[in-house]
Amino acid sequence: MVFDYIDGGADDEVTLARSVSRFRDIELAFDVLADVSEIDTRTTIMGAPSASPFFISPTATSRLFNPRAGELAVTRAAHTAGVPYACSTLASVSVEDIAAANPGTKWFQVYVWKDRGLVTEMLARAKAAGFGAIILTVDLPVAGNRERDGANDFTIPPKVTWRTASQGMAAPGYLWDLMTTPEIRPANFAHMRIDGGLIGFINAQFDRSVTWDDARWLREAWDGKLALKGICAPDDASRAVGIGANAVWVSNHGGRQLNTSPSSIDTLPAVAEAVDGKAEIILDGGVRRGSDVVKALALGANAVALGRAYLYGLAAGGERGVTRALQIMDSELRRTMALCGRAKIADLTRDLIFERRLS
Ligand SMILES: Cc1cc2nc3c(=O)[nH]c(=O)nc-3n(C[C@H](O)[C@H](O)[C@H](O)COP(=O)(O)O)c2cc1C
Repeated sequence: MVFDYIDGGADDEVTLARSVSRFRDIELAFDVLADVSEIDTRTTIMGAPSASPFFISPTATSRLFNPRAGELAVTRAAHTAGVPYACSTLASVSVEDIAAANPGTKWFQVYVWKDRGLVTEMLARAKAAGFGAIILTVDLPVAGNRERDGANDFTIPPKVTWRTASQGMAAPGYLWDLMTTPEIRPANFAHMRIDGGLIGFINAQFDRSVTWDDARWLREAWDGKLALKGICAPDDASRAVGIGANAVWVSNHGGRQLNTSPSSIDTLPAVAEAVDGKAEIILDGGVRRGSDVVKALALGANAVALGRAYLYGLAAGGERGVTRALQIMDSELRRTMALCGRAKIADLTRDLIFERRLS
């Protein structure tokens, strides 16, 4: 059930599958006899130096995948790799504890809750804890229909039913960790009474009437960098630039929201054209290989955020698992750059994308 919660998407998972497969459809051209003795993957993302053009995308309740350390495992691994860590508003460890574990670049993801006072309170806490940018997720007016979770009776925190109990028995180590650590809940709101677990909290706080005016309000309430996460349409990308977003984040929430929405890599070129260099572009969705990072950058992204790619590592091996996942991504990126004959991030340009001509 925990694997399915990470791995699954909305409805028939068409967007989820295409987000991965559309990267496979893109072919890379390559230059030969270029000096690739020194591959340099360093870049800056939203003003912060990063060892790689990829970083950690915000994902809720990491303690579900690793009950002992959760977000602490992920944020430490991000710091070790020298890449930014983006923390979900629904993290199962508080922003203060995350800040204590990671002195490096940290960003905080927010929603505009019904209770705007709660939002400003969270912004102040994030700022005080050293989070340098916020990410407003805009593709979740309601939760998507994740059918695998229903079939598994999966809830956060997990409740005991025949299905969950039998799955728990099959993973006694995980069950032990779950039973001997504090209940998994949104740790940033630990001071609030929350009925009905994570979904109860979301239902109570999600404001379906949020519009661009609220995004503008958030822009004024936060004086650091701001990214808008969950952009698909070029017009929305232009609006994001218009309200002063520093980054436009092309995403469909990993295929967990609107099923049959297009894959991010397919929407990226039109968004890049609309943004026209006036903001940075971040892409996520379906990035599983270093070559996917190269393709996204060649098609106009400045950086790529990783979701499941590190979550699988977290669930399999905690902090070491995330570190390993990031190392794999790094070595694949370097190898692909060398094979393409491009030694620097700035060299990953559109001409790398092979255009098929119909004869
Ligand atoms: C288990 C899980 C939880 C997520 N939780 C959040 C969240 O709390 N906030 C958010 O903005 N995005 C969330 N996302 C979306 C990711 O930030 C990202 O957009 C997506 O995972 C990218 O697709 P990929 O997993 O194919 O890389 C979540 C994704 C997953 C898989």
